[in-house]
Amino acid sequence: MTTGPLLAVRDLRVLIGGRHILHGVDLDVARHGVTALLGRNGAGKTTTVRGVLGLVPRTGSVRLDGEETVSLPTHTVVRLGIGYAPEDRGIFAGLTVAENLRLAERRGADGPAYGLVHELFPELKRRERQLAGTLSGGQQQMVAIGRTLLNGNRLIIADEPTKGLAPKVVTEVAQVLERAAEAVPVLLVEQNLAVVRRLAEHCAVLADGRTAHQGPAAELLGDAETARRLLGVGHGPVTRASSVEADS
Ligand SMILES: Nc1ncnc2c1ncn2[C@@H]1O[C@H](COP(=O)(O)OP(=O)(O)O)[C@@H](O)[C@H]1O
Ligand SMILES: [Mg+2]
Repeated sequence: MTTGPLLAVRDLRVLIGGRHILHGVDLDVARHGVTALLGRNGAGKTTTVRGVLGLVPRTGSVRLDGEETVSLPTHTVVRLGIGYAPEDRGIFAGLTVAENLRLAERRGADGPAYGLVHELFPELKRRERQLAGTLSGGQQQMVAIGRTLLNGNRLIIADEPTKGLAPKVVTEVAQVLERAAEAVPVLLVEQNLAVVRRLAEHCAVLADGRTAHQGPAAELLGDAETARRLLGVGHGPVTRASSVEADS
C-alpha cells in the first residue's frame, strides 16, 4: 500500500489496572517528514506510543502501511519496522556509544545501517569509544535516534526528545530529528511548540486520553486560541524558541 497514512491509529483504547487511560485515540502519521503528537502532561501521549508498540494491552486498530498490528506482540510490531526512542532515552550510561548502537542491531536482510547513522551523525563516529553516560543530553539523543536508524525501519517514534534540555541543546536535537526525518518518517511526541513549528507538517493533539484535534501543524500553531485551549500554552503568540510547559 502506498497511499494513505503510513500509520493509521483508530479508536485506540488502553485499560491499565481497571483505569481507562486511553478512550478513543485517532492518529495518522504521514509517509514523509515529521508528524507531531501533542497534548498536556498526562494527556496520554506516551501511552499512545506504548499502545502502538504493544507495550500495554490495547484495543482498536493500528495499521502500519495497511497491515493490522493491534493484536501482535511487541517484538513482531518492532520487526515490521518501527524504531522507538523512549521518553527516558534508554541509553546505557556505562557502555560506549558503539556498544549502545551494537545492542540495538537486529538481524535483518541488509545488516545494520552504520553508514546512514554515521553520515547523519558524524559525531557518533568520532565519539564511538566514549561512555554514553558522559555525553551531553543532545549527544545522548543522537545515540537514541541513531539506534532507531540502524535497522531499516519504516517509522521512527521519538517520545519528548527535547524534554529537560537547555535551549541550545533543544536546537541541536531538532537538527538531529530534521536529519533523521529526511531518511525515515518520524512520529514526534513534543511539548516544545517551537520545535513542532520548525519540524512538523501534521499534528494531532490529545486531551484526557482522546484525540481532540488533528490537522496541519501550521494551522494549529497559527490559531493562538485553539492552541491555548488544547495545550494550555501561556499568554502571547506561540513563536518563542523556549520550551513550553503545558502543566505547572
Ligand atoms: N502504567 C500505568 N498505570 C497507571 N496509570 C498510568 C500508567 N501509565 C500512564 N498512566 C496514567 O495515564 C495518564 C496518561 O499518561 P501518559 O500517557 O504518560 O501521558 P503523557 O505522555 O501525555 O504525559 C496519566 O494520568 C498517567 O498517570
Ligand atoms: Mg509522556
